[in-house]
Order: sequence, then structure tokens, then C-alpha cells
Amino acid sequence: MREAFIAGNWKMNMTPAKGAEFATALVKELADCKSKVLVAPPFVTIPAVSQALKGSNILLGAQNMADHLSGAFTGEVSAEMLKEVGVSVVILGHSERRALYGETDAIVNAKIRLALSQDLDVIFCVGETLAEREAGILKDILYRQVTEGLKGVDALQMSRITVAYEPVWAIGTGKTATPDDANEAHAYIRAVVGSMYTKGVAESLIIQYGGSVKPSNVKDLMAMEHVDGALVGGASLTVDQFVPIAKFN
Ligand code: PGA
Repeated sequence: MREAFIAGNWKMNMTPAKGAEFATALVKELADCKSKVLVAPPFVTIPAVSQALKGSNILLGAQNMADHLSGAFTGEVSAEMLKEVGVSVVILGHSERRALYGETDAIVNAKIRLALSQDLDVIFCVGETLAEREAGILKDILYRQVTEGLKGVDALQMSRITVAYEPVWAIGTGKTATPDDANEAHAYIRAVVGSMYTKGVAESLIIQYGGSVKPSNVKDLMAMEHVDGALVGGASLTVDQFVPIAKFN
């Protein structure tokens, strides 16, 4: 059985004060949560949230990370900095990073390898645009993103990787992939990982679905064989929505 993993990507929301208050509420509400839960605040909010999460069962994530260890990279934040403030997981390859900030498969791959070398776990995001889905090239896109993104990652390191399938057309739009659509894409991603590594690696891989996950659709999504978790954006910002998602079971 793969462990359910629910992650909240706060994106560019929550100041340090608001984030700490929200995290404190989540600690209380999720003390008896059966799923693995993570929140990923913006960089400057991380230390305050880290403080609030101390001693709790909620993991702390970051939404991005530099592709170099240190040096003259204005505006960037390193793996070492993230670890020092309590981050254990980094979200990489999010479609907003790819589309708005020009992150290519090669950049995503460099970041993934660097994060793993620094003992950070990774939520590795993949997913097609609407135009790609309509052109019938969903599988080609997923194949490229998965194989390029995981280049040079060995089988042992795969236990530190969670894949998040996020169809771009479903992110922040209110449009959710049907549970069957999600399951089919997840099954394909698992098969690709199986062809790159072993059946065992593929079977134990946690694959989250992301894109307009809400309390009303999480159960049906999580009921699918290949859907092991959720990467939640908009609905991760309030107790009313995130708690029932995390406690879907
Ligand atoms: P959404 O975002 O839940 O607001 O659609 C998901 C994501 O981008 O991770």
C-alpha cells in the first residue's frame, strides 16, 4: 500500500504572520490526520511556519530552489538555506515555473539532482497543456517530462521522489481532470518509471494529482488505483478546505 500524501502549495500567498497563524491552526486540526501532509509556503514565510510546525506531523516544503549550491545568483535561494530553516521537501518543475519563468526539462533535472544530492526530497511536477491534450500528445509530453526530469537519478534516489501529475488546464481553473483521466495519466507515468527503473520502484512511487482539488472531489480522485495523493493550490489556503482534503479518509 502506498501512503497517501497531501501537499499544499501556497504559491505567492501568506505573509510570515499569516502563514504562522494558519500553520498553527493546521497543527491542531491535523494532529490525528492519517495522511502524510506537507505545506509549501513562499520563501520568506518559511521560517515563521517552520517555527509553528515544530514537533508536529506536518512536513515543510519549498516551492522552488536554485540550480546551484551558492554564489552569484541574484534572487535565488539555495538548498542549504532551505534545509537550515527546516525544509525537507522541495517542489520542482511546477507548470508555473515552467511557463512563467522559462524552466526547461534540463533545468528541472539539474534542480532535482541537486536537491537529492543535498538530502532534500522532491515533489516533481509534470503535466500537459490543453493544446497538447487536444493534439493527442499527452503521453509524448509526459514521457519527455518524466524521462528528461529523472535523467541521472538512480533507483535508490527514487524513494525520495514524489511525482505530481498536474494537467495545466486544470490548475486554478476549477476544471478537474476526471478520476479516470487522472488514473490513466498516473498509470502511464508509473509505466514509464517502471521502464526506466524496476517494477518495484514504479509500484512504490507516490503519484499525486494536482489541479483544482477540493473537498468535494478529493475522495473520488483518491479512490483511483494510481492516485496516491494530491498537490493542492487554491484549496490549501484555508482550514475549511485543506483540513477535509487532508482528512479525506
Ligand atoms: P490549484 O493548484 O489547486 O489551485 O488548481 C494546484 C497547483 O498548481 O499545485
